Formats: sequence, structure tokens, C-alpha cells
Amino acid sequence: MPDATQSWQDVDEYLIDTLIDEDEALRQARAASHAAGLPPIEVAANQGAFLALLVWMVSGRRVLEVGTLGGYSTIWLARAVGPSGRVVTLEVDPHHAEVARGNLERAGLDAVADVVLGPAVDSLEALIATRPEPFDLVFIDADKQNNARYLAAALRLTRPGSAIVVDNVVRGGAVVDPASADPNVQGTRAVLDLVRAEPRLTATALQTVGNKGWDGFVLALVRE
Ligand code: SAH
Ligand code: DHB
Ligand code: MG
Repeated sequence: MPDATQSWQDVDEYLIDTLIDEDEALRQARAASHAAGLPPIEVAANQGAFLALLVWMVSGRRVLEVGTLGGYSTIWLARAVGPSGRVVTLEVDPHHAEVARGNLERAGLDAVADVVLGPAVDSLEALIATRPEPFDLVFIDADKQNNARYLAAALRLTRPGSAIVVDNVVRGGAVVDPASADPNVQGTRAVLDLVRAEPRLTATALQTVGNKGWDGFVLALVRE
């Protein structure tokens, strides 16, 4: 029996090679982030392409990202909103934010994507206070224990028709343990409960396998 993880990686590699235009700027952003010591937990290329497709599907011009890392996913999102669009991306770690700003600048996207430094809960409160135009898509991908708070903020920053994606909701299957001592698991379970309880959302969650192992995401649509 082949090793499942190896097969997932082989297939991801094949799909990415066959379908995905991961160009020099994206490859450079990934490499520069790793070289700067950032953890290699950015979305895979085919997941970045999926996020970009979602932005196009909602005709997204404004995207909010929670959790920038080195800006790899941000580049996909910023390209998808187009030159007149806007991506606001929230990051708590100053080193990550600095690396991300460099990557976005090299990708020619520094005028589109704005990296906001600080704990995302605070940045979201500050953003809400400015009563910004609604965001068309929100990608939640930071510390998982705050996911319910991020979702609540996302609901205040979107409109009917906006999409919300929550990354990493499966984590190798850990999510099914209600007694888990891992705050990330508890945060994920809390956000799934909130998604279910929130009448303004219609949502599903899908598992994924690939070169990031076994994980999954929530896709939610903001309704009336
Ligand atoms: N979206 C990125 C990956 C993000 S990894 C990509 O796919 O390329 C998660 C990021 O969230 C890390 O950079 C981490 O520093 C950041 N983070 C963790 N806690 C945070 C918080 N409280 N507020 C804002 N960002 C946070
Ligand atoms: C981790 C975080 C992520 O956002 C991700 O996509 C994969 C792993 C982590 O904290 O381990
Ligand atoms: Mg993630």
C-alpha cells in the first residue's frame, strides 16, 4: 500500500504543475519567506489559485485577510482583485509583516495590498470603527483560538453575497475531539458552532489533502 501522504504530495505536485501558473513573483515570495525563517505554512499554490477563483466568483474588489505570514496568499488575493481593488491583511508579527511588505513590493502589489501590523482582534475593531465599504471576501487564516472572534468581526465587515473562508479547520483530524486541550482545536470547534448558529451564513466545510497534509476549510456565504 502506498504511503498516503506521499501520494497526496505527488498528486498535488502533478495538479500544480499541470494547472497552476505559479510565476516568479509567487515562487520568490515563498522562497524569501522561508529564507527569512518564517514557518512554511502558506497556502499551497493550488489553494492560492482557489482563493483567487473565489474572489473572481464574487466579483471581489475588496478582500480582508486575517493572518498574512509572508504575503504568499496575499499575492494571489491582490492579483484577483485587480489593480483598482484593495486587500487589507492583518498580521501580529512585525518580522512577518516586514517580509510580507517586501514580497508584495517585489510583486508590484504594494499599492493594492495593505499590511496592518497588530493583533487582529484590535485591528478588526479599529477597522470596524472606520465603517469601511464592505469586503467581498474574508480569508481567516491566523491563530485558530480567535477564529470565532474573527468570524464575528467578518460579519460586521461584509454584505449579503460576500464569501468567508476559514482555513485549517481539520488539522489532521484533531477537530473531532471535543475534549482536546489544544486551544486551536477548541477555537476551530467554536467557529464551526458559530457558523452553524449564525442565520446570516450558509456554509459548508470540506476536507483537503495535499502537500499540506490532511486539513480542510469552511466556505460560507453571507445571506440576507
Ligand atoms: N495566509 C498566509 C498564512 C498565514 S499563517 C498564507 O497562506 O500565505 C498565520 C499568520 O497569522 C502568521 O503569520 C501569524 O504570525 C499570524 N497571527 C497569529 N496570531 C495572530 C494575531 N493574533 N493577529 C494577527 N495575526 C496573527
Ligand atoms: C498552521 C497554520 C496554518 O494557517 C496552516 O495553513 C497550516 C498550519 C499551523 O499553525 O501549524
Ligand atoms: Mg492556513
